Amino acid sequence: MNEKTVNIVGAGLSGLSAAITLSRMGIHSRLVSSQPSERAQSVLAEGGINAALDTMGESDNPADHFSDTMKGGCFLESEAAVKELTENAPRVVTELFRLGTPFQNENGRLTLRNFGGQKKKRTAYAKSSTGKMIMTALIDEVRKYEAQGLVERFPHHDLVYIKTDEKTLQSIFVKDLYTGEFMSLGGCTILCTGGLNGFFEGMTTGTTQNTGNAAALAFGAGAELANLEFIQYHPTTVAISGKRMLISEAARGEGGKLFIMKNGKPWYFMEEKYELGSLMPRDVVSREMFFVKNASECTGDVFLDMTTIGGDVWSGKLSDLRKEIISYLKQDPKKEPIAVSPGIHFFMGGIRVNDRFETNIKGLFAAGEAACKFHGANRLGGNSMLGAVFGGETAARAASKSAEGSQVKPVPDYKDSVSSPQIRARLRDLLLGGLGIVRSGETMKAALADLEALYSAKGISKIDRLRVSVGIAAVESALAREESRGAHFRKDFPKTSEAFRRQTVARLENGRPVITFEKFGGEGALKDEVHS
Ligand code: FUM
Repeated sequence: MNEKTVNIVGAGLSGLSAAITLSRMGIHSRLVSSQPSERAQSVLAEGGINAALDTMGESDNPADHFSDTMKGGCFLESEAAVKELTENAPRVVTELFRLGTPFQNENGRLTLRNFGGQKKKRTAYAKSSTGKMIMTALIDEVRKYEAQGLVERFPHHDLVYIKTDEKTLQSIFVKDLYTGEFMSLGGCTILCTGGLNGFFEGMTTGTTQNTGNAAALAFGAGAELANLEFIQYHPTTVAISGKRMLISEAARGEGGKLFIMKNGKPWYFMEEKYELGSLMPRDVVSREMFFVKNASECTGDVFLDMTTIGGDVWSGKLSDLRKEIISYLKQDPKKEPIAVSPGIHFFMGGIRVNDRFETNIKGLFAAGEAACKFHGANRLGGNSMLGAVFGGETAARAASKSAEGSQVKPVPDYKDSVSSPQIRARLRDLLLGGLGIVRSGETMKAALADLEALYSAKGISKIDRLRVSVGIAAVESALAREESRGAHFRKDFPKTSEAFRRQTVARLENGRPVITFEKFGGEGALKDEVHS
């Protein structure tokens, strides 16, 4: 094939956004995914997408969105990147609406809701199924380009190998999950493969189809990973079979409040301690929940009290959330508080990219949750889908400059490496032990020793060894970061330190992870606002 082509791995929000952007530029893309778009992690996103559209009479503007995002991320993100993101947000959300996302609106003017860490109503939503609705609109848009031959889908294909030469991407190998055959796809590639959910099977709100293998393969191919220690625990989740069910932050945006029994009475601890109450950023809420749950004067679980939310909200904006809670938990949130606890929800770290979303491997790009880009030490609710759509679009524009003609070739002799459920379970347990909500040098060192033993386990497969290397890199990053910032809280270093206002960068040297602290763009101006 001589026409310019870009491979996109992952068909969720960032992947679809990249495919649409390339199609609109007249550039062909191959959309590779282990599952069809309808089953991507993005369809699970609930609460909404942020943009300072200022439709609620609160004088909102992108500068306020920028400063809330920087503050929420504890100033560990590039100012330039966040500025671009927040300035583009109104355009992005307006375009999603134009494409048919049924955002709540009055005569075409979007209604916005409160979300965590933000004082102004800034989150556009479609009840509490916003991800599914945006995905439906984008899937439809992509079909148009598929029909024109601009997008070629490879559903049910897994990424199995990233081939490089001298830090330049040569091709990616994918496996057809139906036939078991392998193919090499030449040309530049954008990884839109989501976060490391598969590292925490059963413990995340996300889908474990986001195995984390792409990050491991990229790491093995020489790509740098960054900020792996920043794992977001969403405060309001409930354990159900095989995963954690999310009770959207939208419930707190509409008035839900957390409490625990203290000396025999409900204690609304967040309301008592913080101006934004239960709607503080997620790292703060999850940490407070951890502390009250372990306080001697408190008993039982932390509950989310949604009983004061009005009937019209339950029958309107939150009708699908209520239905879901009743269906899975057999409890009616309108009538009784629901026991909740923090669960792993999002990975702020990931594949390190530059301002063009390119990794340190020429021709290999990453976007969406796969990339470490906009969210610093803690992502604000509602910024994830924004980062995915805008990231996919920006990465596609950058990749289009490297795109050239490339071929799909069979690789008949390729033998892939298979991950073992036992190794994955052990890896998960060790990571949970080291990278909980509250961490310490002692527990992280213990986890690290066991991870090293796992790495050297007899018969461990190549892919599992790479996965364990990523795990080691995450714990080593957390251990090296001798401060507390955002989602990384250490009881042995409880303060934020300006000296650590750097990205942790992990790279493989002679097969072993090496961690360094490195600068990212735009530091300095907000120095005085760093909190300890
Ligand atoms: O709680 C939620 O609805 C999650 C939203 C998000 O992570 O952005």
